[in-house]
Formats: sequence, structure tokens, C-alpha cells
Amino acid sequence: MLQESAKASSLERSQGQYQGGPQLIDVTLLKTSKHIVALCGAGLSAESGVPTFRGEGGFWRTFQATELATPKAFEKNPSRVWEFYHYRRELVLTKKPNRAHKALVDFEKKVLSADPKTQTFAVITQNVDGLSSNIKNLIEMHGSLFKTRCTKCGDRRENYDSPIALALKGTENSQFDINLPIEKLPSCSKCKGLLRPDVVWFEECLDNDILMKINVELERCDLLLVIGTSGLVYPAAAYASFVSARGGKIAVFNIEKTYDADFEFIGPCGEVLGNALMVNDGEDKHEVV
Ligand code: APR
Repeated sequence: MLQESAKASSLERSQGQYQGGPQLIDVTLLKTSKHIVALCGAGLSAESGVPTFRGEGGFWRTFQATELATPKAFEKNPSRVWEFYHYRRELVLTKKPNRAHKALVDFEKKVLSADPKTQTFAVITQNVDGLSSNIKNLIEMHGSLFKTRCTKCGDRRENYDSPIALALKGTENSQFDINLPIEKLPSCSKCKGLLRPDVVWFEECLDNDILMKINVELERCDLLLVIGTSGLVYPAAAYASFVSARGGKIAVFNIEKTYDADFEFIGPCGEVLGNALMVNDGEDKHEVV
């Protein structure tokens, strides 16, 4: 079940100091790890201009983004929740993958083209923005902004319509609730039922298939790259300790101190990740940290 850690609201973290310059992972470890997994959060897309959930970017109108991502919020006010998701869809449609997304794509290419194949790589993302869609071995654990699910017949499908319903057009710029009637909200093309975003909300369970896939990746993971996530939302928040308990190493990339890690890269991941993974313009610059 998707759950925010109890410490989330009260947690205060010291601001890490951005060290600047190339910060690189232990090269031997990067080369000898057999199965590397990247666990990503909203910080990965921050440099693309997509707001994070917590901290400064965590507000929409007067609401905290996390307050609207619940089945109760949708039941109580489906118009408000759709206005919020419409806003996020429209925003993301104007954004592009940044250097950190690209570093992961390049790293995957490097791993896939290695001969003999000694290494495998997977990306597990909590992000629903689709900006990692160029990754081949990708698990979008919290769903997608561009998928819908019918609340009546359960039909799931991709949907990139802009706007997703005519009546939502322009509401992304409003500071106030528009209160659209249900008939004007996105509806199922099969049964006309009310659609909802196909994302995992708080207090909802993740798909069993997804959980099983994640388990397969984590069980053989010997290096976990934890990128741009506050580590406050379960189940993802538990993955680093799971890997660590099995002897895997943890490398954290964040602008502030979050997890206990074997390697810590404090700085914007767009600046740091490419160097750390040695995929920056083909240069093999590296230092042991
Ligand atoms: N580079 C690296 N890290 C960054 C950057 C950056 N440029 N900008 C912000 N961060 C870090 C922040 O310091 C923070 O630790 O990204 C993290 C973002 O945290 P959250 O906003 O809590 O996002 P996330 O961890 O992905 O949230 C998990 O919670 O709201 C739910 O389902 C939603 O998937 C989401 C889940």
C-alpha cells in the first residue's frame, strides 16, 4: 500500500552542501556490480521543471499535492482532483527529459552494448511523468499521468489528449475550483463511466505484478542508485534497506541529505549523475568518493 512515513511532516533535514565539480562513484564497484538498479523520485525530473511533491514545489493552488492524491479526495471532489491532474498533464506535456534522464538512458545503452554481457540494469521510477520512457527496462511503480482507468468497467488505456476533457481546458491557469459536473469530466469511451488517472494514490495498493517485478530486480541488485527521492513514501522507502541488508551497496543522489548511503552525491542530479555513471560525453572521468 502506498503510505507516507509518519516522520514525513515533522522531518527536518540539514541542507547538504553542494560540492560542485565531478563527483564520481567508486569505479570498480560500478564496473563489477552485476545488477544495478536505479530507484527514482520527483527530484529526477526537477531540472526539467516538474515540481516535486514535498518542499517548495509541493503546492497546487492552496492544496498540498499529496492531499489530492487520495481516493477520498477523488470521491469527495472529482472535479478538483481532475483539475489538478489536468494541470500536471498539461505541464508535463511541455517538458523534456533532462541530463539526468539522459544519463540513465546512456548508461543503459552502455550496459546493453557491453560484450561480453556482464552487467544488467533496471530503472524503477515513482514518477508518473513519463520522462523516463526511453529506458527499456523500466518499471513505473506509481502508474502514469497519461493512462486512465474507468471507475465503472475498469478499462485501462493510454491517453495523451490535451485537454483530456474539453471542459478542463484553461482550468490549469485558475487559482480557484471550477466545480465541473461529473458529465463534463473525462469519461470512458466504452461505458461512459467516470475515468480516473491510472496512478497509485495514498492508501491504495500497488499492482501485484509490479510488486513482483520490483522484487525480482531488488533481490539480485548489488548496487542501488537512489535518485531524487525523499524516501518518505512506502513501499519505495524500504528498498534501500532491503538491498543493503542483502549486501548490496547504496549510492544516493540528492540535493540534500536523505538516506544513509555507501556513496552520497549531494547536488542536482542533472549535474552529478552523468559523471558518476561515467556517461558524460563519453568521457571516463572518475574519482573514488
Ligand atoms: N536533484 C536531485 N534531487 C533533487 C533535485 C535535483 N535537482 N531536486 C529535488 N531533489 C530531491 C529533494 O531533495 C527530495 O528529496 O528530490 C526529492 C523529492 O522528494 P518528493 O517530492 O518527496 O518526491 P518523491 O520522493 O518522488 O515522492 C514519492 O510520494 O507523493 C507521492 O506518489 C508520489 O511518487 C511520489 C511519492
